[in-house]
Amino acid sequence: MRLILAPMHGLADHSLRNILTRLGGIDLCVAEFVRVTNHLLTDKTLLRTVPELAEGGCTRAGVPVRMQLLGSDPVCLAENAAFIAGLGAPGIDLNFGCPAPKVNFHGGGAVLLQHPEQIHAIVAAARRAVPKHIPVTAKMRLGLEDTSLTLDCARAIEAGGADEITVHARTRADRYRPPARWEWLARIRETVKLPVVANGEVWTPQDWENIRQVSGCDDVMIGRGAITRPDLMRRIKTGNEAMPWPELLLWVVDFYEQLCAKMDPRHAPGRLKQWLGMMYTAYPEAETLHRALRAERDPVMIGKILATVQA
Ligand SMILES: Cc1cc2nc3c(=O)[nH]c(=O)nc-3n(C[C@H](O)[C@H](O)[C@H](O)COP(=O)(O)O)c2cc1C
Repeated sequence: MRLILAPMHGLADHSLRNILTRLGGIDLCVAEFVRVTNHLLTDKTLLRTVPELAEGGCTRAGVPVRMQLLGSDPVCLAENAAFIAGLGAPGIDLNFGCPAPKVNFHGGGAVLLQHPEQIHAIVAAARRAVPKHIPVTAKMRLGLEDTSLTLDCARAIEAGGADEITVHARTRADRYRPPARWEWLARIRETVKLPVVANGEVWTPQDWENIRQVSGCDDVMIGRGAITRPDLMRRIKTGNEAMPWPELLLWVVDFYEQLCAKMDPRHAPGRLKQWLGMMYTAYPEAETLHRALRAERDPVMIGKILATVQA
């Protein structure tokens, strides 16, 4: 039974992975996608997105971080996958689910779900290029507009030799509208033999129990729920009560300090506010703090406000 932190471009970056994996309960992370076009990515680009590559492919807490590639050209994806494997990535995940119009316009992400044969070619090329001991996995949505090709896509991923498949149980047309269609996870699991990881709309420990029951999947990937309730994975693993806000605030401050140290400090307040904004539903205190910080742009002043609130 594994709990996997979902890739979330622009949201779950190196700093947040550092915090969430130190909080505990997460067995594996998949990093946000890196786009592959027609050239070999540089190690500089890769390390910017996934600095864990320079740290043995793991977060500070020792949790492995798989790289995710997004593109449509099997040869180019395979060459990049091999290069990244050589840099020490503990796994390569292939993105067949991104709904972003720009990405889809260039033939990557969810549009590939209309072309199972191309999905097969991509997975097979990547699997051939990456040493056997490094997992090559895939993440898909159920389809583009409907579920008519869902099972074909899952079969294509399996036939291509993937080690595992994660399914976000929605089509692109569903966007992020709840509910996720967990019953499709069971159908996919019955169709393919490779491990299926369930994903979509897990916000609480009870949701985690429900998705496992409906899908029959052991492993669950959680995205937004782990940002909203940062101790969600730990609670699932331990059965503990939710972490009280004063304790969580220490982690928020840690996150902000990491941001200021790693990025242009002018951008740190925005990232902090983004996270606080997502914690509203679980922690009313996050909303109060967000309001106190909203008008403030000076990173030093924000640090001072955080120190005052902590005291
Ligand atoms: C802001 C954001 C960015 C995302 N970026 C990626 C990504 O880079 N690669 C990917 O495969 N999925 C991405 N996703 C989809 C998530 O990994 C996940 O499949 C989706 O959020 C459903 O899971 P959840 O209901 O637990 O959040 C993203 C989702 C969000 C909300």
